[in-house]
Amino acid sequence: MGNLTLAIIKPDALGARHQGKIIDRILEAGFEIQAARIIKMSKSQAEGFYQVHQGRPFFKELTTFMSSGLCMPLVLRKENAVAEFRNLIGATDPQEAAPGTIRKDFATSVGENAVHGSDSDENAEKEVAFFFATEDILANL
Ligand code: CMP
Repeated sequence: MGNLTLAIIKPDALGARHQGKIIDRILEAGFEIQAARIIKMSKSQAEGFYQVHQGRPFFKELTTFMSSGLCMPLVLRKENAVAEFRNLIGATDPQEAAPGTIRKDFATSVGENAVHGSDSDENAEKEVAFFFATEDILANL
């Protein structure tokens, strides 16, 4: 059970200027932000990040969307961070997300679902390393 997870506030949420409200939810839930960036991914960066989904029917739509505007990768720290953050964001499809979750309140569709969260400790480590160097993370300073 690890203490770090990788979150991304996605282009739909930044486009709607919801990043402040989403960060508030994250802080209120007890996460510490250990690193943060504001970036625009190229199509090939988005394809690299979502490599595990290559071949899925939604891969092209997903990577086009994720490279369509600004997004904010965040490294979050809390005990049992991966599971805790997935509880906070809710189901991938906002129609199935529980009341009070970030996706329920800010996502518009399964594709444009406001936030990403790592799905395992192993993937969290890889995803953090995709966006951040070791020295970018506060705990490593
Ligand atoms: P995310 O947590 O970023 O991980 C993979 C993403 O694929 C997921 O959120 C969704 O936004 C996106 N996606 C798009 N279409 C689908 C779909 N039909 N089923 C699952 N995920 C989808």
